[in-house]
Amino acid sequence: MFNVEHIRQDFPILNREVNGKPLVYLDNAATSQTPKQVIDVIVDYYSNYNANIHRGVHTLSQEATDAYEQGRIKIQKHVNAKHTHEIIFTSGTTHGINLVANGFSSLLKKEDEIIVSALEHHSNIVPWQMLCERTGATLKVIPMNLEGELIMSEYDKLLSENTKLVFVNHISNALGTINPIEYIIEKAHAVGAAVLVDGAQSCPHIKPDVQDLDVDFYVTSAHKMCGPTGEGMLYGKETWLKKLPPYQGGGEMIAEVTFDKTTYADLPHKFEAGTPNICGGIAFGAAIDYMNAIGFDAIAKYEHELLDYATEKLLEIEGLKIYGTSKHKTSVISFNLEGIHPYDVGTILDKLGIAVRTGHHCAQPIMDFYKIPGTVRASFAFYNTKSEVDALVSGVKKAKMMLS
Ligand code: ALA
Repeated sequence: MFNVEHIRQDFPILNREVNGKPLVYLDNAATSQTPKQVIDVIVDYYSNYNANIHRGVHTLSQEATDAYEQGRIKIQKHVNAKHTHEIIFTSGTTHGINLVANGFSSLLKKEDEIIVSALEHHSNIVPWQMLCERTGATLKVIPMNLEGELIMSEYDKLLSENTKLVFVNHISNALGTINPIEYIIEKAHAVGAAVLVDGAQSCPHIKPDVQDLDVDFYVTSAHKMCGPTGEGMLYGKETWLKKLPPYQGGGEMIAEVTFDKTTYADLPHKFEAGTPNICGGIAFGAAIDYMNAIGFDAIAKYEHELLDYATEKLLEIEGLKIYGTSKHKTSVISFNLEGIHPYDVGTILDKLGIAVRTGHHCAQPIMDFYKIPGTVRASFAFYNTKSEVDALVSGVKKAKMMLS
């Protein structure tokens, strides 16, 4: 049974006060909070078996290696990858995207085309622009409509035999729109293009099945789903990962090194140069265990209730406009009060102990589309409550009164 009061007891930070008020944490799309089950795993690692991995014969090194590789297996099972070696540990979503973008530098030609969407975070725009600069390939953009949805008929028109890659997020961080990635993948494959899905915002809400999606690359970060920062994963189909060259050179990613020639290690180590975030990989696995124990169906259902409740209550405030009104969206509400800068609203909410994000949310093209400088973004997690939504609504009303 899903019991939010019970769940909240797992999150020590939710007991603190901010500016003399109980913390109302509604910035979950930026980073989620960490349950004690994951914190305990981190403390246990540094207290009991901190050692470098894949290197030592000694007991601590073997314990750390086993736990780290168990983390990889947990991720593999969670996303239903066919092979464990298709899971590459990264420092986060941005790292995973850059790894793939770098790899394609040697595979693209001048006449090739890359498609991204109008709903992307900067991290899924800039690396592809850099790739186009390096290769001469052209970047094309799937446009969006006023509801904040991608226009699939326009996507169909962009696809051609020149399309080599399509990059799209599963869920928009700025608006919460859930994109039709099944359709996008199917159509891209029909012209022979590979697809990378940015799952940074979906993994806290949806359990992806990479085989069922038939996606070529899927990237995400641990810190959005109750894990630590500085840790993430890239899933890549074995065939693609074998084709791509290594991203960084260093220890761990080699088979043999001489001054004449170096041969590279097999997957996944080919892409994992240097000492990784060992504790991060172990804690990522623990975060997946924690969320699975609650259950992604229960999480999605509860968050949807919060989203509906918050949407209804916020829309009762005159002059408040929500950006991103798709029927297919997750628990993110981006909004503005007429004539008031989002930063000012966010500052007043902070004084009331309410944490939201303000600004362009690393998605400037979306703000340009709506011709606004930014929004106030409240993003809800499964440990938020309806009374926290009430606190947000009353805080926004107060901000409106003070700033009008
Ligand atoms: N990408 C994160 C956000 O949307 C940081 O806030």
